Amino acid sequence: MCGIFGYINYLVEKDRKFIVDTLLNGLSRLEYRGYDSAGMAVDGNKKNEVFAFKEVGKVAKLKELIEQSATDMTKTFESHAGISHTRWATHGTPPPSELPPSPNSTDSILIHSSDPLWEFSVVHNGIITNYKELKALLETKGFRFETETDTECIAKLAKYLYDQHPDIEFTVLAKAVIKELEGAFGLLMKSVHYPHEVIAARKGSPLVIGVKTSKKMKVDFVDVEYSEDGVLSAEQASQNVAAKKSATSLLAPPDKSLLHRSQSRAFLSDDGIPQPAEFFLSSDPSAIVEHTKKVLYLEDDDIAHIHEGQLNIHRLTKDDGTSNVRAIQTIELELQEIMKGKFDHFMQKEIFEQPESVVNTMRGRLDVANKRVTLGGLRQYISTIRRCRRIIFIACGTSYHSCMAVRGIFEELTEIPIAVELASDFLDRQAPVFRDDTCVFVSQSGETADSLMALRYCLERGALTVGVVNVVGSSISLLTHCGVHINAGPEIGVASTKAYTSQFVAMVMFALSLSEDRASKQKRREEIMEGLGQISEQFKQILKLNDPIKDLCAKFFKNQKSLLLLGRGAQFPTALEGALKIKEISYLHCEAVMSGELKHGVLALVDENLPIIMILTRDSLFTKSLNAYQQVIARGGRPIVICNHDDPEFSSALTEKIDVPKTVDCLQGLLNVIPLQLISYWLAVGEGLNVDFPRNLAKSVTVE
Ligand code: UD1
Ligand code: BG6
Repeated sequence: MCGIFGYINYLVEKDRKFIVDTLLNGLSRLEYRGYDSAGMAVDGNKKNEVFAFKEVGKVAKLKELIEQSATDMTKTFESHAGISHTRWATHGTPPPSELPPSPNSTDSILIHSSDPLWEFSVVHNGIITNYKELKALLETKGFRFETETDTECIAKLAKYLYDQHPDIEFTVLAKAVIKELEGAFGLLMKSVHYPHEVIAARKGSPLVIGVKTSKKMKVDFVDVEYSEDGVLSAEQASQNVAAKKSATSLLAPPDKSLLHRSQSRAFLSDDGIPQPAEFFLSSDPSAIVEHTKKVLYLEDDDIAHIHEGQLNIHRLTKDDGTSNVRAIQTIELELQEIMKGKFDHFMQKEIFEQPESVVNTMRGRLDVANKRVTLGGLRQYISTIRRCRRIIFIACGTSYHSCMAVRGIFEELTEIPIAVELASDFLDRQAPVFRDDTCVFVSQSGETADSLMALRYCLERGALTVGVVNVVGSSISLLTHCGVHINAGPEIGVASTKAYTSQFVAMVMFALSLSEDRASKQKRREEIMEGLGQISEQFKQILKLNDPIKDLCAKFFKNQKSLLLLGRGAQFPTALEGALKIKEISYLHCEAVMSGELKHGVLALVDENLPIIMILTRDSLFTKSLNAYQQVIARGGRPIVICNHDDPEFSSALTEKIDVPKTVDCLQGLLNVIPLQLISYWLAVGEGLNVDFPRNLAKSVTVE
């Protein structure tokens, strides 16, 4: 639910200003993941001292706080470890429960520390489900909790275990702590007892490590070290001091010579001496690319230890089926890709990127001239999927709407039963899943907790799992059997736009691939491929409506309390998606109604004052949709109509309309959603709202 960022420099001299600015800059790139509060912990002026800063609100306020704190920014550090976070509150309201009095001086503080002396500082993304039990245990040991957050129990548990064994190695301590944690997390921990060292661990939440060295690395991977003998529990660790001395215990100091030889080959010189190095730890590579393109994705249950210019990766259990190396990859994200450029907001940039992003989704996959579709990531699985008993699409939010939008074309082309499920509801019901089901997980981020848990649920039941995700290296991408990366490029605006259209296109291509062997569908398939070939140009035409749509918003929707959006058939999901966009960024109540249902209740709301948008592009249901239009007109309603160019039905000068080009019926939703994205954008801008960071929402929801 939060963004975490860490920076460690080893034998690379930096002043405190550089370190603090690097952390602040990293946090601001992660702000889309949550912005209820922000904080950081950096080394103090004396050995064994930490300075921690914490502020309610956005990163800019944390920056102000640090500037006002009169901290000496000129002090230099040859080696240093700093950690920071931007938080979306799940436990404990951010103000003021997270802001205990400062241990050292005037600063309002903290990340989550172990005790008033800040011996252990922790930043954490995710949720610790057993924090109440841990808290209760620690309270019996005399700990007093200062906040209501789950994170605080991690720092206090570390402090408790450390006090039992003050000469314990940092990794051994970290393993004992992490073993006790249940739930999902990405976390960073630093301590005054282990200066310049950081522990980074993940379980269900993303964590990436960027590496910058002046010399080329010797190898482009890091070995994984497995525990031979399991890990002691917190209770065992506290009671069994003798265990620390035992050569077979994890609480015994590991054989360092062996560790250094096996784990950190990438970072050592020829004569085995560590080299100057900088490490950047982040929830998302977009905060790292400006520093280095060399990154390593941690896997679930990895515990990374950064110390003395080296990176060691540990795991709690031996032979757990994961690879025994982690590759150091070169990421291709360019900085300008994640910058706003000439646009005022990321959301606006992303809406206008759609003519290119859909092309990127189809690039190398759709050959319109030869009428062929090849999805490399599904090739080996297509025949298995064709034989499945049903396809279940599982997703949340916008991604769920894209699944609904393609349900019809999947049913038509594949003739396989299709179900579309909200991940949370699917899990709540513990819905039956069988080995001959194919479960498709659609997610922009690939990290949404509800979707991820549903994926694990389906994996346990032996179903074939397919991902449709944007973020390469994300948890859903890694855990599914196969899948399609939608290649829409980074999406920063909390309101998803280009990911929706790219998911839609990727899934239509999926349906086309599945029906390749059906001669009876050939004509229809060709028609759809032709349509996809023209989509990008049609997006460009619709985006020319930007100014008229801005004016329309000012004219019809200013100071309104509510808005209805009507659609039918394949356009009902478009209405749902449009209504979600409007709600999430303009805070205007907006309800999507299936036109056929209008007369069953909602019609009572209609009068000459209620703003209504009706999607009335021509398809096989057009006549029925027109009935709803007539019903609204008959009650004095004045709907704004989204219709095809020059539709004679809406030729009256009195009809307020948004003209969109015509495409194949099953693709029309791709075009119709764009005016709705623009409406939501201009409504929010008109109200002076923060378009990219709507209140109470986060881009990546990594808690249940
Ligand atoms: C891949 C390359 C692409 C290259 C192309 C050339 C990657 C990420 N993509 O694209 O850069 O241009 O080959 O042929 O290296 N997967 C999942 N779950 C998901 C998404 C994907 O398991 O949710 C798997 C796929 O099954 C596949 C791999 O990830 O094994 C890459 O998927 P994708 O990028 O869609 O494959 P290509 O289009 O072939
Ligand atoms: C969050 C976002 O709720 O997660 C939505 O605010 C998004 O915009 C939803 O649609 C699902 O996210 P993802 O990454 O799984 O597509």
